[in-house]
Amino acid sequence: MKKQKISFDLMVYETKDELERKDQELMETAVNARKDAYSPYSKFNVGAAILLDNGEVVIGNNQENACYPAGLCAERVAMFYASAKYPGAIIRSIAISATSQNYCMDKPAAPCGSCRQVISEYEVKQEQPIAIILMGETGEVLKCQSISDILPLAFNKSYL
Ligand code: THU
Repeated sequence: MKKQKISFDLMVYETKDELERKDQELMETAVNARKDAYSPYSKFNVGAAILLDNGEVVIGNNQENACYPAGLCAERVAMFYASAKYPGAIIRSIAISATSQNYCMDKPAAPCGSCRQVISEYEVKQEQPIAIILMGETGEVLKCQSISDILPLAFNKSYL
């Protein structure tokens, strides 16, 4: 038996103002997208903004349903929208901002497992990393360079 350590670099910014310009703009787009979330059940609003290599930015927000599992997270709405609209484009990064209508989120929310899996699918497909930038409503911002950082040992097409 040998023990392997899996680690990654997580960049921690005190606020979004510390981000480099293009990440800051992407986060601001995610914040705006968050406002249009359809979240009457959870009152939890999430916005996502994706930057493509062609310069286009694609947004998404969570879309809920009275039949709860039929709803979809902001990240997947944005990823599927990007792939549907610009199927050949390379996805550079995704900024995600989450907050509650009941309280102020002062720390980032981590993307759910299904969203990590979906982002991973496109990262594997394009053979280039997708950076993930996370924020609540205020407070610190986290950034990692690849979805594989936060979804190590992912299931992918190589098994099929
Ligand atoms: N949600 C997202 O949109 N993204 C996440 O990463 C976590 C959760 C949504 C799904 C649901 O509409 C609400 O937040 C509460 O789970």
